[in-house]
Amino acid sequence: MTAHSRSKKRLAREAAEERASRMAYVGTLASGLAHEIRSPLSSIKLNLDLLREKLAAVPEAQRSEFESRLGLIAREVDGLQELLTEFLTFARPPKMQMMATDVNDLVSQVIELAMPECERKHIEIVRCFQKDLYPVALDQHQFGRGVLLNLLTNAREQLGEHGTITLRTRERQDSVEIVVEDNGGGVPEDLEERIFDLFFSTKEHGTGLGLAIARRICQEHGGDLVLENRPGHGASFIARLPKSRILEYDSGESLRSKDADGSEHEPPEPQ
Ligand SMILES: Nc1ncnc2c1ncn2[C@@H]1O[C@H](COP(=O)(O)OP(=O)(O)OP(=O)(O)O)[C@@H](O)[C@H]1O
Ligand SMILES: [Mg+2]
Repeated sequence: MTAHSRSKKRLAREAAEERASRMAYVGTLASGLAHEIRSPLSSIKLNLDLLREKLAAVPEAQRSEFESRLGLIAREVDGLQELLTEFLTFARPPKMQMMATDVNDLVSQVIELAMPECERKHIEIVRCFQKDLYPVALDQHQFGRGVLLNLLTNAREQLGEHGTITLRTRERQDSVEIVVEDNGGGVPEDLEERIFDLFFSTKEHGTGLGLAIARRICQEHGGDLVLENRPGHGASFIARLPKSRILEYDSGESLRSKDADGSEHEPPEPQ
């Protein structure tokens, strides 16, 4: 195969991956929105039923008009509920493409994406990576963009025109953690509980979807996303991923990175 056709193939594969990750993102957004619409619709339906029960109290002259208008609203609400059910079935995000991943590599790739805008805003990015991390199974596009890039973007937006974002990686007994830390003042204490809510935003043009999606993706990986807040100083968001048991029994090449001398590390004993 020529170098030209290899690079064409690589570009096509990257474009397909990009499309798949965008679809996954849109799917998560759409189903989040559909869930949010569902509960006010149920409440409309409930109140409508209560009003219909009181029709007998409406004066005779207006009763049939009330009845037909309430009936019309009820049919529309039923239609919308059906549409939402169908839509939720259709928009379920695609299955995750899990791959054994060196988290340090993935974080570095995402830093590259965020770097130009950070440089423009005089924001420094500091890496504190634990060497030779245990590999984790994750969907690199969903986790890279939906979690890491969202957290980096929030940190940058919080910092404004200057500041420092520190990316840490570290291994715990059962998990690998990625910490996105900034020195931008942190989250006001009374908002700590709300920032992960769908559509909660304090920004003029924010949709309030970023953290809700990021947490959902972490949870779909069997992990979690938590805030370690230092009000007045800064915020750290900790994405926690479980060490995968599948990888421990992988019979292929050792997934641990190699030392400079080429010697490999064995995965640790199952916990
Ligand atoms: N690093 C941070 N420091 C302080 N507050 C933060 C930080 N990250 C998020 N927040 C708060 O959490 C809120 C919700 O964040 P989220 O990412 O869900 O939505 P958004 O950034 O406002 O909008 P979107 O991500 O959809 O553009 C933000 O509006 C902000 O108030
Ligand atoms: Mg955001």
